[in-house]
Amino acid sequence: MIKIIDKLATEHNLSYDELHRLIEHRNEELAEYLFEKARQVRILHYGHDVYMRGLIEFTNYCRNDCYYCGIRKSNCNADRYRLTKDQILDCCAVGYELGFRTFVLQGGEDGYYTDEIMADIVSSIKSKYPDCAVTLSLGEKSYESYKMLYEAGADRYLLRHETANADHYSKLHPSILSLETRKQCLYNLKEIGYQVGCGFMVGSPFQTTECLVEDLLFIKELQPHMVGIGPFIPHKDTPFADKTAGTLELTLFLLGIIRLMLPFVLLPATTALGTIHPKGRELGILAGANVVMPNLSPTDVRNKYLLYDNKICTGDEAAECRMCLNRRVESIGYKLVVSRGDCKMR
Ligand code: 5AD
Ligand code: FES
Repeated sequence: MIKIIDKLATEHNLSYDELHRLIEHRNEELAEYLFEKARQVRILHYGHDVYMRGLIEFTNYCRNDCYYCGIRKSNCNADRYRLTKDQILDCCAVGYELGFRTFVLQGGEDGYYTDEIMADIVSSIKSKYPDCAVTLSLGEKSYESYKMLYEAGADRYLLRHETANADHYSKLHPSILSLETRKQCLYNLKEIGYQVGCGFMVGSPFQTTECLVEDLLFIKELQPHMVGIGPFIPHKDTPFADKTAGTLELTLFLLGIIRLMLPFVLLPATTALGTIHPKGRELGILAGANVVMPNLSPTDVRNKYLLYDNKICTGDEAAECRMCLNRRVESIGYKLVVSRGDCKMR
């Protein structure tokens, strides 16, 4: 197994069978070896810098009904909200003061925000903060819509593929959503010129080792600039309320593999990772992650954007969040930097 990790570290690629064996035979000792290699690669390209993204969750209305998601349209217990353009710009102002140079606008698939409205919000942010990057995370849209938002100034787009296995995809989503469309969106985003992020939940219901290998091979093929992975965490008002959560251990192991497969990738230590374990995000960084995405949404809506139960950072002020993260990152020998934090690939 050590040989497989060495091969991954030097060739940045493994076969289906090798990945399968590595995941199935993982243990604590192998994980430590993997993380050591992952840190070496990460430090080579990014030093000890940790990039910050200010996450603005601007709407929790969603037309979709993903079985895992707490803001799915069938959840009548969700307390719905939308932020105005001014509220979003206020979040950016607070964030800019705190040193954020990337703003991530994330929301459910909410028809209220037409392409015109979104383009106006994006271009306003870009003209006010020309030194900042804008990342969008708005779900599936047409090529033309993606293009319009790109032309309005959006730099990056996050759209997790959720699972690269079509059969598994259909167990997580109602049949109107398909893996094929999801993949097409990702390729469209790339073609338009976005820095693109895909990703998946670790330990989602019905996920097998085979699914994970397919996820890793898909990521290798897509060559995204960013990969977001975090444990699945059940939400009480969803069809998956009684399913088991993904583990810290497997999430960290996969972070290590992804760092070695794509040495330059921007890899967040996600909020979900911080939710399942008090030191989750620190451990994520030590396994190869190099990005954190603290919440910049107004305090009064934070506890409404609940994709899963017990989500962290729903109470703190943004500023406190920034300081608390600073302490956490420094405690393990890394530092939060004031930077757009672009991908250093090519
Ligand atoms: N647990 C963990 N992650 C979730 N997401 C949605 N619901 C959950 C959940 N219950 C993730 C999805 C989505 C991202 C915004 O949040 O992967 O793409
Ligand atoms: Fe909103 Fe899945 S529930 S996109």
